[in-house]
Amino acid sequence: MRPVIVALDIDNQAQLQRLLPKLGQPKDVFIKVGMELFYHTGSQLVKQLADQGYKIFLDLKLHDIPNTVYNGAKALAGLGITFTTVHALGGSQMIKAAKDGLIAGTPIGKSVPKLLAVTELTSISDEVLLHEQNCALPMKKQVLALAQMAKNSGADGVICSPLEVKELHEQIGDDFLYVTPGIRPAGNAKDDQSRVATPAQAKKWGSSAIVVGRPITLATDPQTAYEAIKKEFN
Ligand code: C5P
Repeated sequence: MRPVIVALDIDNQAQLQRLLPKLGQPKDVFIKVGMELFYHTGSQLVKQLADQGYKIFLDLKLHDIPNTVYNGAKALAGLGITFTTVHALGGSQMIKAAKDGLIAGTPIGKSVPKLLAVTELTSISDEVLLHEQNCALPMKKQVLALAQMAKNSGADGVICSPLEVKELHEQIGDDFLYVTPGIRPAGNAKDDQSRVATPAQAKKWGSSAIVVGRPITLATDPQTAYEAIKKEFN
């Protein structure tokens, strides 16, 4: 079954403890923990959740010199997480170091967490790409080039928009994970997302996993909303 990952955009343990039981049994729940929660509560909470059976996408977007990223990734691999992220802009050596760190830090007998690369953040406009990052390539080519470099450097996949997945499959190949936020079931508010797709569209276009936040976390019955999205995506 392709994963539907619930984005927990919260920053405290009390909120977490209220929300988690509403999503279902830990073994059936895949959550995305971002820097807000991680920096507030620390790595031990992530380990506890993994030990309880939750699958975890730890989205910390590492970006530093290769040696530092190697050691950081090695520490994260010991937490029992399933996915984690780096910025592709850190370069091929940094991505290789992240992958090596994850391998080195994974306890014997456990699966190595999948390494996902963030290409250009969706908050970066064409204007910022040109005038602040001084990148001569148009956004689409830059995203493709970064995704290809990430793959060549050992990343297992990228984070991208569901609207980019089809072309990425064609250009980068099927043996790579395409994890897509920006998902809204039909009839849901877009909130602050501008380019969205339904779970069924994401499936059709080839997303390997989808990340869904508010349509689940703010639903009156989060578990029912979560199950419906899982069904639509699979
Ligand atoms: O609530 P919603 O479904 O919009 O949450 C989407 C999640 O995916 C949030 O955690 C957001 O930060 C993340 N995300 C995104 N777009 C990106 C990268 C990450 O929406 N390009």
